[in-house]
Amino acid sequence: MSSLKEKYGDWALITGASSGIGKALAKLLAQKGFNVVLVARRADALNELAHELHNNFQVDTRVVALDLLKPDAVQALYDEVSTLDIGLVIPAAGIDEMGQFLDKEYHSLERMLKLNIHVPSEIAHVFGKKLTARKCSGIILVSSLFGYQGIPNFAAYAASKAYILTLGETLNVELAQLGLDVLVLSPGLTDTPFTQSMEIDFSKLPMFAQRPEIVAKTALNALGHKATIVPGLLNKIYAWENRFIPRSWPVKLFGFLINRAIKAYQTQSRLAS
Ligand SMILES: NC(=O)c1ccc[n+]([C@@H]2O[C@H](COP(=O)([O-])OP(=O)(O)OC[C@H]3O[C@@H](n4cnc5c(N)ncnc54)[C@H](OP(=O)(O)O)[C@@H]3O)[C@@H](O)[C@H]2O)c1
Repeated sequence: MSSLKEKYGDWALITGASSGIGKALAKLLAQKGFNVVLVARRADALNELAHELHNNFQVDTRVVALDLLKPDAVQALYDEVSTLDIGLVIPAAGIDEMGQFLDKEYHSLERMLKLNIHVPSEIAHVFGKKLTARKCSGIILVSSLFGYQGIPNFAAYAASKAYILTLGETLNVELAQLGLDVLVLSPGLTDTPFTQSMEIDFSKLPMFAQRPEIVAKTALNALGHKATIVPGLLNKIYAWENRFIPRSWPVKLFGFLINRAIKAYQTQSRLAS
């Protein structure tokens, strides 16, 4: 049995488990012997994953297909799994809204803010109370490298991730005395459908995409040892550099780089059509 399973077992709950980083975390946890609750909207993708994890690792699975943006969704999720001995909770579901702030429909930004801020906060709150009844438990909140600074074209997204970073850093201290380990995972560019759908030429950015499996492994290694983790050396440098320079400098730099990468994508699209 893995030490992680000994500490936080028997069940882990992961939202955003149908894809990307959430899916990679679910797979790795099942490999370590955790039974897993898989949460997202697409029931077919979740059922397929549940089947794969049960066959490959002989673990129990529960699929909860639900739109976390629906009213009372978090309470419905909590009620659905209330009989399970959950020791680890990972609200990984998240979306972005790329583009100039004033060009976006406010309704779309609001949906993103709800999924990226309100839903993980409510999950941490509702499940946190249950988790502290155990001797040892964990929560991994998913922020982003973009949570460390303002990012033009991702203004509200970066701000939503800054909120998660601050929330998690604080809960790491506040809840430690209750036996609850809180970690904030802040991935840089990661190769998932999330980034694959962005209209950006990533080759124009000084960043290297990581595989979600590496991000998931880095997070699980850090849980219980650190408050925050940024996977990848270059990403760590980006996260730390702005502590030593005026806050506006990296915002301006990333504004320039991202605008250039968006223009390069638009030029390629025009040439291809
Ligand atoms: N990829 C990156 O470069 C990167 C970098 C930094 C941080 N992150 C963060 O990492 C997290 C995971 O991102 P990812 O890259 O793995 O993205 P992804 O592959 O697009 O996965 C997003 C997940 O969220 C679920 N989801 C979306 N809307 C939902 C809703 N309304 N209700 C329930 N589930 C919903 C999706 O499943 P369904 O469609 O089935 O609902 C999917 O499982 C996000 O919080 C993101 O901000 C990603």
